[in-house]
Amino acid sequence: MKSYTGQVVVVTGAGSGMGRAMVGEFTARGAYVAALDINLSKARETVEGLSSPKMADPFEVDVADAQSVGACIEAVIDRWGRIDLLCNNAGVLDAHTPAHETSPVEWNRVLSVNLTGPFLMSRAVIPQMLKQGKGAIINTSSTSGFSAAGGGTAYTASKHGVIGLTRQLTFEYGALGIRVNSICPGATATPLALPQHNEASPDMDLAISKVPARRWCRPEEIAKLAAFLGSDDADYVHGSAYVMDGGWLTGARDPF
Ligand SMILES: NC(=O)c1ccc[n+]([C@@H]2O[C@H](COP(=O)([O-])OP(=O)(O)OC[C@H]3O[C@@H](n4cnc5c(N)ncnc54)[C@H](O)[C@@H]3O)[C@@H](O)[C@H]2O)c1
Repeated sequence: MKSYTGQVVVVTGAGSGMGRAMVGEFTARGAYVAALDINLSKARETVEGLSSPKMADPFEVDVADAQSVGACIEAVIDRWGRIDLLCNNAGVLDAHTPAHETSPVEWNRVLSVNLTGPFLMSRAVIPQMLKQGKGAIINTSSTSGFSAAGGGTAYTASKHGVIGLTRQLTFEYGALGIRVNSICPGATATPLALPQHNEASPDMDLAISKVPARRWCRPEEIAKLAAFLGSDDADYVHGSAYVMDGGWLTGARDPF
């Protein structure tokens, strides 16, 4: 298991699902973790549930708001003096609506969290990483970054955008010591996906019957992939979009 001893990791969307699992994975590997969420009490719950709660602090942030992001990153740097890895994990799902049923308000809500969020967070953290001469960023995209139908218009567009942002940041900062990659999960058992697809429902069985692995991904599996991509073991991995979907994209059908 690659150690993160002494490193500082920032995780957004840390109050739930994959973000919560990432906080657990990175603290278990010795990192100090800034657990960021728009919902501070959920971020606090994540930290209090750790086996070593002293390794993480909860912070409130709205990743879609430049001022909120700036103040939060300043507080993280005040706390630990550096940032080695940024995990842009926070995201929201849309209502699976086609374009003509998607209001501009809904479009902006989804795009502002899923795409503007990783941009604003990266923009705030990169100057610190440039000062250090080293850093890594992991952006959470989705199988919806490659194909249609896993969400509605806004979600799919936002997740394609995350892969583009990852590639552009790699082009701009790879030679300056900052590695940027994205993770593309398939159907993962978190509150984001499960309210609509209850694990016990026939809908759930149908969803999973289309996934070659025949099961949901566990958030802890995504966290382990993040731990690999953020580590020196992945030193030559730049600009990639790592799919972890139980093979679903091989058939390119909506599991839902
Ligand atoms: N669950 C899946 O099947 C699945 C599949 C592919 C990709 N993803 C992506 O994985 C990421 C994590 O999703 P999850 O399934 O763990 O979701 P989740 O709903 O369990 O957790 C998302 C967290 O993000 C936080 N958040 C929402 N808006 C925010 C904002 N403006 N600022 C800061 N925090 C905010 C929420 O409070 C929540 O704690 C998302 O980017 C999602 O799009 C999920």
